[in-house]
Amino acid sequence: MSWITLERLEQKPEITDQEVSEALDRAAEQIIRNLPQFTDKFQKAYSENGFYEPVDNLDWTTGFWTGEIWLAYEHTGKEALKKAGQVQMESFLRRIDNRIDVETHDLGFLYSPSCVAGYKLTGSQVGREAALKAAEELITRFHEKGGFIQAWGPLNAPDNYRLIIDCLLNLPLLYWATEETGDQKFRQIAEKHIHTALANVIRPDFSTWHTFFFNQETGEPDHGATCQGYRDGSAWARGQAWGIYGTAIGYKYTRRESYIPIFKGVTEYFLEHLPEDLVPYWDLEFGDGDEDQPRDSSSASIAACGLLEMAKNLPEEEAAYYVGIARKLVKSVADNYAVKDPEESNGLVLHSTYSNHSPYNTCNHYGVDECNIWGDYFYMEALTRLHKDWNVYW
Ligand code: GLY
Repeated sequence: MSWITLERLEQKPEITDQEVSEALDRAAEQIIRNLPQFTDKFQKAYSENGFYEPVDNLDWTTGFWTGEIWLAYEHTGKEALKKAGQVQMESFLRRIDNRIDVETHDLGFLYSPSCVAGYKLTGSQVGREAALKAAEELITRFHEKGGFIQAWGPLNAPDNYRLIIDCLLNLPLLYWATEETGDQKFRQIAEKHIHTALANVIRPDFSTWHTFFFNQETGEPDHGATCQGYRDGSAWARGQAWGIYGTAIGYKYTRRESYIPIFKGVTEYFLEHLPEDLVPYWDLEFGDGDEDQPRDSSSASIAACGLLEMAKNLPEEEAAYYVGIARKLVKSVADNYAVKDPEESNGLVLHSTYSNHSPYNTCNHYGVDECNIWGDYFYMEALTRLHKDWNVYW
């Protein structure tokens, strides 16, 4: 098994503006084609044999479908997309009002690309109300003693007294709530969580823990463990990608200089563990020669978004380097992984992996080598970021 070198990576082609524009057109067409089936319903977290089933507004992933609708609306200006987004925001308001499947830290994943986005784009008061209620719900999961937001399970459950790296993407909802209301409590909690997360999930070699447990009596850091990665000591590809984007977001909101070397370190670790085509296997332990292992194309798109976000805050030369890398990652996803034929799939990007069981991890097995709804969303977000000066949903 082998990985690409940074020198070889530099030589890979970048996606051109023309290709970005064509890829966005194709993605928006696919989303519009899906509206009849997926306006009152949502796309499931993962496709089966390339096709998403319609599902109710449950689980942590439905916001990505609404986010795709908003990105397609931004690209095309089509009224049908705006109307579909509005229907979906009503569903998100009902969900939080009735407390349906909201005992999770994933409220940011759910409400930022759906309701914050819809509010920013259309001024929707439904979106604003739903997202503010979600932010109030999210901060109930904050543990003052450990200084973190508990990811999963009932609050204080001893087997779930932990944070996970993914949560960094849930925090923009809290910053937005502070901006919107002037109430500092949301921002203060987000800041404490970022600090606790980055102090613990980053290993000395800049690989990352997926989840990190704390001592329930003292709040002291205890130990890292994987759930969706191959094994405890390996780097789950998507966790590392959440680390890249999460650190960029952490820097965006806090301006803490100490987060810049963390961003650079986790990015370099990710890049140095890519195969030749720049789309990682589901765990960075695997590389070229491990073709029996599935890819996680969503990780490439998530990482590209993080690089493009962070580039805004770096000196010109460094920014150009990270934008160039993002263009290379997106080029490979667009050329080799994106759906070209609606007969093949009703999603946008193939070969993503949600939850791959291994002899050493604790997750169930589903959504492997399929479309994943966040893979589709972040692919479109990356294209949008490359297409224009985008007003970020996060
Ligand atoms: N946030 C869950 C996942 O990335 O699978």
